[in-house]
Amino acid sequence: MLKKKSGYVVAILGATGAVGKETLEILEEREFPLAALRLFASKRSAGEMLFCQGKEWKVEELTPEVSFAGVDIAFISATDNISREYGQRLGAAGVVVIDDSGVFRMEVDVPLVVPEVNAHALRTMPRGIVSIPNCTTTPLVMALKPLQEAVGVKRVVVTTFQSVSGTGAAAMDELMNQTKDLLAFRDAKAEVYPYQIAFNLLPHIGSFNNDGDCSEEVKIAKETRKILEAPMLRVTATTVRVPVLRCHSEAINVELERPLKPNEARAALAGMPGVIVYDDPSKKLYPMPLDATGKDDVYVGRIREDESITNGLNLWVVSDNLRKGAALNAVQIAEHLTQG
Ligand SMILES: NC(=O)c1ccc[n+]([C@@H]2O[C@H](COP(=O)([O-])OP(=O)(O)OC[C@H]3O[C@@H](n4cnc5c(N)ncnc54)[C@H](OP(=O)(O)O)[C@@H]3O)[C@@H](O)[C@H]2O)c1
Repeated sequence: MLKKKSGYVVAILGATGAVGKETLEILEEREFPLAALRLFASKRSAGEMLFCQGKEWKVEELTPEVSFAGVDIAFISATDNISREYGQRLGAAGVVVIDDSGVFRMEVDVPLVVPEVNAHALRTMPRGIVSIPNCTTTPLVMALKPLQEAVGVKRVVVTTFQSVSGTGAAAMDELMNQTKDLLAFRDAKAEVYPYQIAFNLLPHIGSFNNDGDCSEEVKIAKETRKILEAPMLRVTATTVRVPVLRCHSEAINVELERPLKPNEARAALAGMPGVIVYDDPSKKLYPMPLDATGKDDVYVGRIREDESITNGLNLWVVSDNLRKGAALNAVQIAEHLTQG
């Protein structure tokens, strides 16, 4: 927990990236009490000016010589190497580190937090570091938590449809450029992804292990169990990159411990803070990435019974990966730590 102050000195490592820029917007929108901002990125962005809370802030080059004296909170949303190098160092120096990478998520002495689900985990931060989950785990646990509380969850089968912004700013440019090139009958260059992403999809996110699982699929299973404090929960995932700019969608099949009718599931989900039930097939109402873009909530629709198993339920979940999947979740954690 941070000492109460009228304003906090906040550093963002990776301020010019997709998540970093969203963090600046959210700090402004939510009027986070800032005493000062220190923005860091690579050499190529040094000197750039970014706006937040009515002021321009200069981006500094992140180097090992930078002093973080006086910084209260550091959001790290850069690369795994930067999280590894600076997370540990800043946490040990008394800075509260809110890390977006996968580097610390599964470490036992680092809480992995979605405030609506497990804010209590923030009470113990021995290393001064808290991690946010992967951008697909966050909406998944937001949808599972009320079902877990209502009747218990036994098994989860999830297929994700993940936007390119989940890979960062360069991947968003790649989708736009490939689309423009292909519509102009030019060849599409694939640099960020192994194959063309425009007018295509890739059933591959992260690296493959010896069993043929993608690292993203493994992360979803492990992180879900940690956040829901359900070490025996069975989770299997297939992660797919789709040519959508923003928002991740997930088709979720849940085997519940006890029966729950779709209407009861709707009521349980509607009572979950940060979740909006958007579900009326008679009016063709279901969540889509374009609806959820720029929104804070996790949208759930297509809620229906799965009659192929006992106590089966199907859900469709959509959430903005740059907001609840990353920057918003991180800022909400900072709010919890500053407001007590
Ligand atoms: N995108 C998502 O939906 C999402 C969701 C959850 C978590 N995350 C995590 O958030 C982090 C950032 O992701 P992103 O999508 O924002 O990536 P991004 O758009 O590629 O941004 C990366 C940021 O890191 C900076 N950076 C890269 N190399 C650097 C170096 N050597 N020294 C200093 N700064 C450096 C970049 O600065 P320049 O602009 O100068 O290159 C940029 O500000 C990653 O750890 C990612 O796993 C992302």
